[in-house]
Amino acid sequence: MKKIYISELSKYVGQEISIPGWVYHKRSSGKIHFVILRDGTGLLQCVYFKGNVTPEVFELTDKLGQESSVIVTGLVKQEPRAPGGYELDAKDITLLGNSEDYPITPKDHGIEFLMDKRHLWLRSAKQVAILRIRHRIVKAIRDFFDNKGFTLADSPILTPAACEGTSTLFETDYFDLGKAYLTQSGQLYAEASALALGKVYTFGPTFRAEKSKTRRHLTEFWMVEPEVAFADLNDNMDLAEEFLEYVVQTVLAERAEELKVLERDVTKLQNVKRPLPRISYDEAVEILKKNGVEFEYGNDLGGGDETIISNQFDRPVMVHRYPAEVKAFYMKRDPENEKFALAVDVLAPEGYGEIIGGSQREDNYDLLLGRIHEHNLPQEAFEWYLDLRRYGTVPHAGFGLGLERTVGWICGLDHVRETIPFARMIYRNTP
Ligand code: 4AD
Ligand code: MG
Repeated sequence: MKKIYISELSKYVGQEISIPGWVYHKRSSGKIHFVILRDGTGLLQCVYFKGNVTPEVFELTDKLGQESSVIVTGLVKQEPRAPGGYELDAKDITLLGNSEDYPITPKDHGIEFLMDKRHLWLRSAKQVAILRIRHRIVKAIRDFFDNKGFTLADSPILTPAACEGTSTLFETDYFDLGKAYLTQSGQLYAEASALALGKVYTFGPTFRAEKSKTRRHLTEFWMVEPEVAFADLNDNMDLAEEFLEYVVQTVLAERAEELKVLERDVTKLQNVKRPLPRISYDEAVEILKKNGVEFEYGNDLGGGDETIISNQFDRPVMVHRYPAEVKAFYMKRDPENEKFALAVDVLAPEGYGEIIGGSQREDNYDLLLGRIHEHNLPQEAFEWYLDLRRYGTVPHAGFGLGLERTVGWICGLDHVRETIPFARMIYRNTP
């Protein structure tokens, strides 16, 4: 028998079908039992009239526990008032797997309880909507780069050295070769790939042993990192704004239903169009001063600072040219003022903070070697990376977009823990 999904019911109006799923909830009004079925693609109200079905079927539809797996059979009808717009005039039901005392009920549960039951919580309408939006964002990311002639060149996850500083490395034993580390970013390898293929992206999980307990930090998160040869900081910002516009506008067009389930105010997302405002670090500090923030010039921007800055704009803002001291070793200095790195962070609106970090890379061998030493990094581990400056070095630039922060912003969530099926955080590595 051909399997039918709730999302395809428009094709079956007037036909009798069987459809498998789970009991999302039930209602009863004496002679009628309503079973709301979910199958991951939508909800279907199945109506069991006492007079139309056998006594066994009628009794079963009363007893079924939430999340029991079943196959329902009946006639598909258009019903504008039903969730999804269709209804099943039901004739029969087969119980596949019973479910008694399902732990997640429509009442309010605490967040820790829900995270402990994350393997079940995923079945809730809101969580399903978030994961469908996450998937659409991933597809938009891939489509954007694929359509612009980028080659996907994935970087390794097990690496011999740090990329984003040594303080947040997860370490593991690696056979006879000593220690290996879970990568914090695929960037350094993406640079090698870009010098082979011109423009590339790497897209995969990255790891940070972050001690931060904020609503923006995971220890395992996904990052997409484009890298382009013969590109400078301005090219990098042009790419970032075109990319963000494409991703957000695509999700608005393709996942309107899910955004509605999440009650997202989409007017805030409709503004995400080029050009995005570009301000320097110095201009950002001016904004902080004007808003009465006691900010020490030269520091990195904190989460609260980012919120105040982004609140001045109705779309993401790009902050460029940070003090080199607060940024990574591989960033090129601004030739106009060596104190600054040719860096750019993109801050999302509505207090979502930094979603993109990027830069033009140091392409000069001697300067890069000096930075490796200044940062106390082991030169030996970076010999291959220095080779990229020894053999045909070129200006190049790239950035990394954090997937979970982007999902959190687009979905309007207050914590990144709901943006990934199974979040990993400082205090949680289960289920
Ligand atoms: O700014 P970051 O550290 O930049 C890099 O890793 C560069 N190597 C990227 C590049 O130029 N290719 O991280 C990039 C983005 C951040 O803007 C943020 O969105 C996300 O990764 N991110 C995190 N997301 C969730 N949890 C964490 N602990 C994160 N740390 C960074
Ligand atoms: Mg950053």
